[in-house]
Amino acid sequence: MKPINIGLLGLGTVGGGTVSVLKRNAGEITRRAGREIQIRAASARDLERARICDTEGIQLTTRSFDIVNDPDIDIIVELIGGISPAKELVLAALDNGKHVVTANKALIALHGNEIFAKAREKGLMVAFEAAVAGGIPIIKAIREGLAGNTVEWLAGIINGTCNFILTEMREKGRDFADVLSEAQALGYAEADPTFDVEGIDAAHKLTILASIAFGIPLQFDKVYVEGITGITAMDVAYAEALGYRIKLLGIARRAPEGIELRVHPTLIPERRLIANVNGVMNAVLVKGDAVGPTLYYGAGAGAEPTASSVVADIIDVVRTLTSDPENRVPHLAFQPGAIAEMAILPITEVETAYYLRLSAADQPGVLADVTRILANRGISIEAILQKEPPPGESQLPVILLTHKVRERELNAAIALIEALPTIGGPVKRIRMETLG
Ligand code: HSE
Repeated sequence: MKPINIGLLGLGTVGGGTVSVLKRNAGEITRRAGREIQIRAASARDLERARICDTEGIQLTTRSFDIVNDPDIDIIVELIGGISPAKELVLAALDNGKHVVTANKALIALHGNEIFAKAREKGLMVAFEAAVAGGIPIIKAIREGLAGNTVEWLAGIINGTCNFILTEMREKGRDFADVLSEAQALGYAEADPTFDVEGIDAAHKLTILASIAFGIPLQFDKVYVEGITGITAMDVAYAEALGYRIKLLGIARRAPEGIELRVHPTLIPERRLIANVNGVMNAVLVKGDAVGPTLYYGAGAGAEPTASSVVADIIDVVRTLTSDPENRVPHLAFQPGAIAEMAILPITEVETAYYLRLSAADQPGVLADVTRILANRGISIEAILQKEPPPGESQLPVILLTHKVRERELNAAIALIEALPTIGGPVKRIRMETLG
């Protein structure tokens, strides 16, 4: 059978990894795909840097649109990242009748609805396994492996940079800023690292996971996003003293009133497997009604782990090239006509437990005032930890763990607590999940 010609857009970390994996495993890949897959052309901004990987036999250019317009190319692999020109290139590829494989989470989260509509119109595939959790085949697992389930919830450590920072802070007591520069040097962080530490990258990935889990449109703008920049070494240590670890989680849950979509630092019990996912590793916990909880773990970034997903997508596309477009696995797991709008809950309507840290005057009755405010709102307390005041200070840190409460109620209680003359400064709040 005629070989399939790939046009690779972007020869950075993931592009280079994709070239290496496709070349090294060419024999195995052909046995799996049923025909040879060859990289015909590749584009890069800087051709000298691109030659660091083995580009022998590949036509190199700086002009990505030439590849997208080349009639000999069957599949475009977009590994440029960002929105522009990636979006224009992907849409042009589809207009030219080419299938697309992309690792671009921001593009799918923000413009996936439009891209999939065009792909459907043209009978083409757009595969995006590498967009979420790098090398973990989480898209395939949810879309196909769990297709018999009603997904109840999922929770993922889906940003390796944040997980690396939080792990280093816990294990070595290091400062946030110092660890961030190391993550950047290791090549895991986004071009703009605020995307990592402010939770935006995780929110892109959560948007995609929620869509294929629940059959809802991609709606990045509805995700509640809070990053890890406010997490202090003190909170990490207090959480640990109470038997919890702090992780940046992306959570999507089917609640009775609607869907919860949220990314925020979260205390989780240290006995959970997912609490022990450390460093840059990623993990996604998915709870299906039939299967129960399932956990997927692996490298969430890096050249070859991400290339592993890119190449799997290429093979998937090649295998189904001759199948009727109507009978392929739908882009977003559910049949396009069955994608349903469901209410996405604002964070104030979400119910969860909380870690609260207050700075209290060291005098009788202060804690009684705080617990009364909570009790009056029906908020029950699971644990209290009171520390010695730091040297030279009269205020002492008090940590409270609450049971589940609607965030709106908690906000009202926090406002009253902050107004107490014996409480200094704002109350620090971190959400808490048992993931049971
Ligand atoms: N910046 C991302 C991370 C890379 O840290 O997980 C993979 O998407």
